[in-house]
Amino acid sequence: MAEQNILILGIESSCDETSAAVTLNDKVLSNVIAGQKIHELYGGVVPELASRAHQKNIVPVVDQALKQAKVSKNDLNAVAFTSGPGLIGSLIVGVSFSKAFALALNVPVIEVNHMQAHVIAHFAKKNNAENFSAPQFPFLCLTVSGGHTQIVLVKDFFKMEIIGQTTDDAAGEAFDKIAKIIGLPYPGGPLIDKFAADGNPHAFKFPHPRTQNLDFSFSGLKTSVLYFLQREKQKNPDFIEQHKNDLCASVQFTIVSILTEKLQKASAQTGIKEIAIAGGVSANSGLRNALAEMKMKEDWNIFIPPFEYCTDNAAMIAVTGYFKFLKKDFASQDVSPSARFTGF
Ligand code: KG4
Ligand code: ZN
Repeated sequence: MAEQNILILGIESSCDETSAAVTLNDKVLSNVIAGQKIHELYGGVVPELASRAHQKNIVPVVDQALKQAKVSKNDLNAVAFTSGPGLIGSLIVGVSFSKAFALALNVPVIEVNHMQAHVIAHFAKKNNAENFSAPQFPFLCLTVSGGHTQIVLVKDFFKMEIIGQTTDDAAGEAFDKIAKIIGLPYPGGPLIDKFAADGNPHAFKFPHPRTQNLDFSFSGLKTSVLYFLQREKQKNPDFIEQHKNDLCASVQFTIVSILTEKLQKASAQTGIKEIAIAGGVSANSGLRNALAEMKMKEDWNIFIPPFEYCTDNAAMIAVTGYFKFLKKDFASQDVSPSARFTGF
C-alpha cells in the first residue's frame, strides 16, 4: 500500500482560516490558506462572521488548491477534513463541503482531529524541500496556539497522550489579550514579537504561575500586567507608549519561560530529548531562540515545521488523512463535527 500514489484533498475550517491542500502521499502539492481580515475590527474572532466567510471562501480555495497542485478532482483518492475541535459553525462548513464533495466523487471521507494534525504536521514534506527530517518516536510536542496549549507525548502517529495542558488561557490567547491591554490590534502575538526585538526582556518582572505537574496557567499573568499598567499609567499616562518595547520583551520573556520550564520538566520526567513545537505561537522568535539554547544546553533535537504548517492549514489535515488512509480509517457519511476537544 505504501508504494501507492495516494492523492488526498484536505479541508481545514476550524477557526478563522479557510484552507484546502492537496497531498501526494506525505508530500504537499498545494496548501492554500484564506485568512479572514474582518475579525481585526472586533479584536477577536467573531464566530458567526467566521462561518459566513468560510461559506464564501471554501469553493474558490478548493479550486485554487487543485489548480496549484495540477490535480483533477477526479484523481483524488479521498477527502480529509477537520471534524474538531473548533468553532461549530465554522466546522460545519468544512465538514458539509467535504462530505458532499466526496459523495459526488465517490471517494471515502477521512475525519481528522485538529490537534492531532498539528502534531502530524511535522511529517508533511514540503514540495521540493531538501533536508527534510521528522522527529523520531517517541517525541514530545508542545502545541501552542490561540486556542490550545498542550505538551503531547507522541508514541506513534495515532498514539498520543496529553501530559500537560493549560488550565485557563492558551499561550496565544495570553499574547493576544496582553497585546490588547497594551493597545495593540488583534492578533497581537506577532506584534509583541516585533516590538520585543528592540526591548529589554528583564525590564519588568511578572510572576510565574504555581501550577502543579506539567500544567500551564496564563490568566494570572494577564491580570498582573493589567494591574501593573493601571498603576503605572496613574503616575505617567504615557507609560505604555514610552516603554512599549521593554513591556513586550518582558511579557514575551515571561510566557516563553513558562513554556520552556514545563517542557524541560517534561523532558526530564520522560527522558525524551526529541522535542517538537507546533501551532501559531511556534512562530515566536523568543520561543525559537529559547529552544535553540536548550538544544545546546540540554542536548535536545528540536523540530519546528515550516511556518505555513505551524498555523492553521489544510496540509496538516491532508497528511494526517494520508496516514489514516493507509490504515483504511475512513468515516461514514453521517459523521458530524464536534466543537470540544475530548482527547485524541
Ligand atoms: O495555530 P494558530 O494559527 O490558530 C489557532 O489558534 O489555532 O495560532 C494563532 C495564535 C494567535 O494567538 C497569534 O497571536 C499567535 O498564534 N502567534 C504568535 C506569533 N505568531 C502567531 N504569538 C507570538 N509570537 C508570534 N510571532
Ligand atoms: Zn490550530
